[in-house]
Amino acid sequence: MTLKKKIVLLGDSAVGKTSLIRRYVFDQFEDSYISTIGSKVTMKELRIQTPMKKVDLTLMIWDIIGREGYHALQARTFVGVHGAILVADLTRKDTLGSLERYWIPSLYKVVEDVPLVFACNKSDLVKDHEFELGDLEDVASKYTIGYDDILPADVEPTYSTSAKDGSSVETLFKSLGHLVTSEKGMKDPVKELFEGLVATGITRTSDKTTPVGALDAIIVDFCKGFKDSRMSMLVLRQEIARAGIDINDPTRDGVIKAVEFLAEADSEFKNEKKVRSNLERWREIAYGIKE
Ligand code: GTP
Ligand code: MG
Repeated sequence: MTLKKKIVLLGDSAVGKTSLIRRYVFDQFEDSYISTIGSKVTMKELRIQTPMKKVDLTLMIWDIIGREGYHALQARTFVGVHGAILVADLTRKDTLGSLERYWIPSLYKVVEDVPLVFACNKSDLVKDHEFELGDLEDVASKYTIGYDDILPADVEPTYSTSAKDGSSVETLFKSLGHLVTSEKGMKDPVKELFEGLVATGITRTSDKTTPVGALDAIIVDFCKGFKDSRMSMLVLRQEIARAGIDINDPTRDGVIKAVEFLAEADSEFKNEKKVRSNLERWREIAYGIKE
C-alpha cells in the first residue's frame, strides 16, 4: 500500500524544527540560526512495516515559523494536516509550557484529533538542560492515550532528540509515521473544506494592529494571489530578507517597508491594476499598526 500524509512541526522559535527536518531528510546540521519565514514543505519517503502492515509512506513535512501570533499563516498551514510533531527545547523550560498553552490549541482549532508525537530537542547540550524527558512525557501522556496499541513495542510517542548529533530523530518521525498510517479513514474532502473555512475565520478575526498580526495578514493575502503556494513562499522569503526585517520581531516601519518590496515582486507576476489594488490593501493594514 502507498500513502501520502501531511505532517507539521510545531513549537516556539529556535527550538530546532527546521534543524530536525534538515537532519531527517538531508542528514545535515547547521549551527547558524535563520528563522523560517512563512512555511516550507519537504518530502520524505519511508516504509512503515509491522507484522500487520507494510506501507510505503510519503511524508509531506511542513515547517513553519515558531513565533506566536502568526495565527492566519499557521491556521492555513494546519488545513489537511494528518499529524504533528510538537517540539520543545531542553535548554528553555518555557518552550515546554508553550506546547499546551499555544501550539496544541492552535492546531486543534483547525484540525480535530490528529495524532501527536513529542520531542524535547537539543539533548546534546546536556549541561544547559532546564527540564527532562519525564516532564515532556507528563504533558504528552494526555494526548497519546491508546497509542500503545498502535505503536510497535520499540517505538515511543515521546523522545529526547538532537538535530546536531542525530539521536532519535529518525525514530521520532517513524513514530508519527506509524500513527498516521493507522487511521482507517481515507482523505475526506468535506473535512478539508470545513478546516479551510475555520482557517479563513481565524484570518478574518485576527488582530491586525500589532506588527506581527499585520505582517501575518499581509503574508496570507500575498500568498493567496498565487496559484502555486511554493512559489509564493519563495518570493515572500526573498522579499522579507531583502527588506531586512526580523520576522520574529517586526517593527511598524519594517512592515511598511516589506509591503513596498512585496508589491515590487508582485509586479513581476501580475498586471498593474492588480498590483496597485494589492498594494493599497497592504498599505492600509501596515499603516493601521499601533505602536
Ligand atoms: P523558527 O524557524 O524561528 O521557528 O526556529 P526553528 O524551530 O526552526 O529552529 P532552528 O532549527 O532554526 O534552530 C535554532 C537554532 O538551534 C539553530 O542555531 C540550530 O543550529 C540550533 N539547534 C537546533 N537543534 C539543535 C540541537 O539538537 N542541538 C544543538 N546544540 N543545537 C540545535
Ligand atoms: Mg525554522
